[in-house]
Amino acid sequence: MNCQRHNFPTLDQCCQALAEHIVVTAQQCVAQRGRFTLVASGGSTPQPLYRLLATLPFAHRMPWSQTHLFWGDERCVTADHPDSNYRLVKEELLAQGLLPTANIHRMVGEIPAATGAANYEEELRNFFVSHGDEAITWPVFDLILLGLGSDGHTASLFPNSSALNEKTKWVTATPPGVLAPQVHRLTLTLPVLNNSAEVIFLVAGAKKKTLVEQIISHRQGQAEYPAGYIKPQGKLHWYIAEV
Ligand code: 6PG
Repeated sequence: MNCQRHNFPTLDQCCQALAEHIVVTAQQCVAQRGRFTLVASGGSTPQPLYRLLATLPFAHRMPWSQTHLFWGDERCVTADHPDSNYRLVKEELLAQGLLPTANIHRMVGEIPAATGAANYEEELRNFFVSHGDEAITWPVFDLILLGLGSDGHTASLFPNSSALNEKTKWVTATPPGVLAPQVHRLTLTLPVLNNSAEVIFLVAGAKKKTLVEQIISHRQGQAEYPAGYIKPQGKLHWYIAEV
């Protein structure tokens, strides 16, 4: 794993650079394999990033017809609920109609969590098998976006959660964490996140600065925070906005 950090004074500047990174990566993946599998992160920080990807020049440079969009986690609410991670991406990106409907792989949060997790894992397995990865143990996403909660969680892997020890499932359901919204969640598991070709954290705000430094500098032993367990076999980038 090689870890690179990219610091920016503002979230807008950070998202401009990250949008460029995503477009270039998407073009390379499509040129090499004819597809780009992107995992969206939740929370509010990525809102300007999703909006940028849906506007010129990025919207015209992204290979949307070969891009498949997935989610790293979802709150167990309806798709139009204010807390839905899908809703944010729909409003900022999907509403522009750039992605074919078949390329949008939503986590269904409005059904019982265990069922939603099992269904999503089946959808992932079907996708990767139908795209030539028959005998895989873990999926290899091209790029996974992650956020960082103020308690050090990422996706919906919360501190002290049993989901952190999941070694076989691709997707699991987790009970509410301490932070709002305190609802059940669906989340990709650590083996899936760490099997990715590339993981990018997008973090903003002075309040998370110390937490980011603690996580990035952690080298040995048990990680103190769930985000510290993200050590992908591929590349790891931290896109950090100071404010
Ligand atoms: C979730 C997110 C979560 C999020 C962080 C940061 O569903 O809660 O996926 O991991 O990325 O909590 O959220 P903010 O960007 O809103 O600070």
